[in-house]
Amino acid sequence: MKIIVGQGSCGIAAGANKVYDAIAEEIKDMNIDVELTTTGCIGMCYLEPIVDFIDDDGEKTVFVKVDAKMAKEIVNGIVQNNENSNEYLIDEIDIGILSKQKRVALKNCGVINPESIDEYIASGGYKALKKCLESMTPEDVIEEIKIAGLKGRGGAGFPTWFKWNAAKQSQGNVKYVVCNADEGDPGAFMDRSILEGDPHNLIEGMIINGYAIGASEGIVYVRAEYPLAIKRLNNAIEQARIRGYLGKNIFGLDKFDFDLRIKAGAGAFVCGEETALIESLQGERGMPRLKPPFPAQKGYWDKPTNINNVETFANVPWILANGGSAFSSMGAENSKGTKVFALTGKINKGGLVEVPMGIPLREVIFDIGGGIIDNKQFKAVQMGGPSGGCIPANLLDTSVDYESISRVGAIMGSGGMVVMDETTCMVDMARFFLDFTRKESCGKCIHCRIGTKRMLEILTRICEGEGQEGDIELLEDLGEKIKEGSLCGLGQSAPNPVLSTIRYFRDEYERHINDKKCPAKQCTNLLEYMILDDKCIGCGLCKRNCPVNAIAGERKEAHRINQEICIKCGKCYEACKFSAVTVD
Ligand SMILES: Cc1cc2nc3c(=O)[nH]c(=O)nc-3n(C[C@H](O)[C@H](O)[C@H](O)COP(=O)(O)O)c2cc1C
Ligand code: SF4
Ligand code: SF4
Ligand code: FES
Repeated sequence: MKIIVGQGSCGIAAGANKVYDAIAEEIKDMNIDVELTTTGCIGMCYLEPIVDFIDDDGEKTVFVKVDAKMAKEIVNGIVQNNENSNEYLIDEIDIGILSKQKRVALKNCGVINPESIDEYIASGGYKALKKCLESMTPEDVIEEIKIAGLKGRGGAGFPTWFKWNAAKQSQGNVKYVVCNADEGDPGAFMDRSILEGDPHNLIEGMIINGYAIGASEGIVYVRAEYPLAIKRLNNAIEQARIRGYLGKNIFGLDKFDFDLRIKAGAGAFVCGEETALIESLQGERGMPRLKPPFPAQKGYWDKPTNINNVETFANVPWILANGGSAFSSMGAENSKGTKVFALTGKINKGGLVEVPMGIPLREVIFDIGGGIIDNKQFKAVQMGGPSGGCIPANLLDTSVDYESISRVGAIMGSGGMVVMDETTCMVDMARFFLDFTRKESCGKCIHCRIGTKRMLEILTRICEGEGQEGDIELLEDLGEKIKEGSLCGLGQSAPNPVLSTIRYFRDEYERHINDKKCPAKQCTNLLEYMILDDKCIGCGLCKRNCPVNAIAGERKEAHRINQEICIKCGKCYEACKFSAVTVD
């Protein structure tokens, strides 16, 4: 018998460590022979803490939303084989969500113990590396990646084989492999989950890359805000060294040396840009370099360097083990394989999913993500984070692949999907992302540094009811100029959330500017709270809740709000039990 507790970051945030401790205590108290172990994120973060029980016949039972008290009951229930723990059993619908996915990069996440190299090996781990070293040339490896059609999962979607080949072709004895684990998009946690849930998969992918391009050193650049990821990765590197999968003469074959180290980054979004990342690795301020030369020609310390994203590397062992054509048989015409997405925002079943490319967006959001919280109307989904764009409801049948997503004005990005409902103000949403990119601009380019500031000022005044005629056109004009005049992807894509919301929700901008109204009722300055005479019974609840005494009225008589005093906090709206307070 075995009990597995999900201890990814979101499981831990939901209380998984306490659950683990409670189970350990109960097992000890009851003196029973049950193996207790841990795993990473299975993706159903909305159900955390999750506990799996595997009986002696290998049959799995999944318990969800477990707390320390329930955990003890579950152990008791299991031992006594009674039914009292059934109320914590996973729903059939939630099991179905997993079956709709295709797991390649996440194949072991939420399944194996990320702290055990033995479990990784038992799941087929390090076989692909062995196969490469024993029976394939570096050219064969690159060819297999080419057949797979793997494109970089870090955002730009550049063909991986091409970059590998360029780094291989570059002259020099010293070359580097770098993994970009900077993951800075608000709402994204795909890479963190792989690092925490299956670090050996990333390590294996990086070693294979080292063999293919002729590099003997690898660096994982990971943000310091991911302490659990760093801990598990460090542990995995140590284990791989002990087994001889890292270090000199890997597999004892006297053929190839490769070692890995971690560099913790300070969490600047721009350091995810590959040339800024290299600067940061070298101890410089993280500012992008001019390209060309590309990192494949002149990268870390001016040596040929291949940089890939965590998920890109995590696909590599599967491709080498199963063949490039098995990978390319999944997905869409020009986007092969699968893609991991982090579903967040106003969605019922927020978490991590891996789906074949080409799946309609509607299926991801409604069939897998369970639709919108409180049955509200879906309004749009922001794809690609601050560099991406929004996709509105009438385009929900768009195929999730690089080409189709960029055709509708968004980008695939690294996989963040922020879902918005009717209560989201699109102008305010665009303002939020622009505020983010403005703060994260490294300041090198005037267009990016000053242009984003000016755009933010315009957006802020629109949201505050100070919008002027011509503001939309000014935003469009500035946006295009910032895109053209910026050196790196940060500035080149910063206006995207604004431009795409103007494209699909221009009427919302116009209502803010012309009518001084926020249709989603989010922009405080544009709201007007009023009390309806015919509904108000004069109970005085609103008056008592108003923090600034803006409400006047005698008992049992209709009350009134003094608009001069009202600070639009909404307390009266929430307090009134007779729907007498309206907001417009
Ligand atoms: C502002 C900015 C931030 C970026 N952040 C990341 C990141 O966090 N992770 C990542 O893999 N790529 C990020 N990228 C893309 C990288 O520059 C690079 O294209 C990528 O790491 C290449 O790996 P891939 O080919 O496997 O996608 C970012 C790009 C820009 C412009
Ligand atoms: S576009 Fe912005 S973030 Fe990129 S180099 Fe220029 S100033 Fe820095
Ligand atoms: S919105 Fe707030 S400040 Fe205004 S009347 Fe209601 S409770 Fe008072
Ligand atoms: S951490 Fe457990 S499902 Fe996400």
